[in-house]
Amino acid sequence: MDVANQEPHVAHPKAAIVTTCILAALAGLMFGLDVGVISGATQFIQAEFKVSDSVIEWIVSAMMAGAAAGSVGAGWMSAALGRKRSLILAGVLFVAGSLFCAVAGTATTLILARFVLGLAIGIAAFTAPLYLAEVAPERIRGAMISTYQLMITTGILLAFLSDTAFSSSGNWRWMLGIIAAPGVLFLIGLFFLPDSPRWLLLVGRRQDAQVVLTKLRGDEAVVRREMADIDEQLKTRQHGWSMFRENPNFRRSVGLGVLLQVMQQLTGINVVMYYAPRIFKEMGYDTHAQMWFTAVVGLTNMLATVIALAFVDRLGRKPILYAGFVMMTIGLGAVGTMMSLGITSHAEQLLTVAMLLFFIVGFAMSAGPLIWALCAEVQPLKGRDFGIACSTFTNWIMNMIVGATFLSLLNGFGNAHTFWLYAAFNAVFIGLTFWLVPETKNVTLEQIERNLMSGKPLRDIGQ
Ligand code: BGC
Repeated sequence: MDVANQEPHVAHPKAAIVTTCILAALAGLMFGLDVGVISGATQFIQAEFKVSDSVIEWIVSAMMAGAAAGSVGAGWMSAALGRKRSLILAGVLFVAGSLFCAVAGTATTLILARFVLGLAIGIAAFTAPLYLAEVAPERIRGAMISTYQLMITTGILLAFLSDTAFSSSGNWRWMLGIIAAPGVLFLIGLFFLPDSPRWLLLVGRRQDAQVVLTKLRGDEAVVRREMADIDEQLKTRQHGWSMFRENPNFRRSVGLGVLLQVMQQLTGINVVMYYAPRIFKEMGYDTHAQMWFTAVVGLTNMLATVIALAFVDRLGRKPILYAGFVMMTIGLGAVGTMMSLGITSHAEQLLTVAMLLFFIVGFAMSAGPLIWALCAEVQPLKGRDFGIACSTFTNWIMNMIVGATFLSLLNGFGNAHTFWLYAAFNAVFIGLTFWLVPETKNVTLEQIERNLMSGKPLRDIGQ
């Protein structure tokens, strides 16, 4: 009976894993497309609506406000409606939000449309990794999470390229509307996916959970073991908020997660992601060159992420973070200095571009992927969802603040001082990494949790 039963089962898990990988790819891609798409569009939007820089800042950052709101609602929604239905809702909002952006008649409508798009991203960025972790078999879980990271940067690159293609016509409506297409693909893909077995068990649908797991794993023994594991985990229910009130050690790890995301955003990465063409304009480039250099930024960001993923488990988190923050301090410091001296020759322009790319490499190989990994690793099991929700929310809020203030800083504080300010933040982060960030390479999550709860200083909880 075993032999007869195994034949048809073998094909199923493979198909299920492939569809899950595609979902991972598409959810990450949508995140990235949304981050990247606005940079090429702002100058054309500004020309059509004749609005000030501060309105542009709102158009850019309304998405992050939506994402912050979406990430707060996503925790409740993914428990009440389930992961799959939450993702479907995100897909619908994504398609609707993109089309709404494309037809917006006024700047205010566009701000609203960007907020809707943000809600979609907030929900998807919370639920997709959760769903993946619950559905993917252990042996490919790491690869799947890396795929997700890489797809964010691929999405940014594709958005930059698509913006570049539309820039000759100046049609910002197409730029913003076209990303509805991958949203539709995402939605179609979702209908082929099973519900998360962990969620099914959470809401008491044992039978359904077993059917799904059998389809995903194809091996009765594995299914039994995994069901028992999930049962065990569900007994240790998440008591995030009460734990936060009662346990000072947990407050330390939540604080660390929040601080890490403040650091990630104050590196200034999204200044470049949202305003790269404007930065290249300040260096004296015309529209055509601005768009192409922006595409080069996107490509650099993606390639350097690959480097990080290849080395992170070998070299450890802290050495890579130090290297990244040093590179970012130098890169932005040099861009500020070039701007203060005045960029007049072609060679000076190229040197400034090179320094900006040096900064991008510094971020993409370090703080980009590593901060996300650390934010999950430092939280104790019972408070993990709560801790990650706090740090992710911080990411979006800081992201919004950075997006909403950059043009005002350029106008009020000057180009050079703005870049120096961000360079100074990165210099401070070298120190913060030394004092507060633990090395988590090759340490089990249980060990980290024991150290945290025994009151060890944060920087030592990985030892
Ligand atoms: C950050 C985003 C950023 C992206 C750039 C991510 O790790 O959280 O805010 O836009 O990296 O690649």
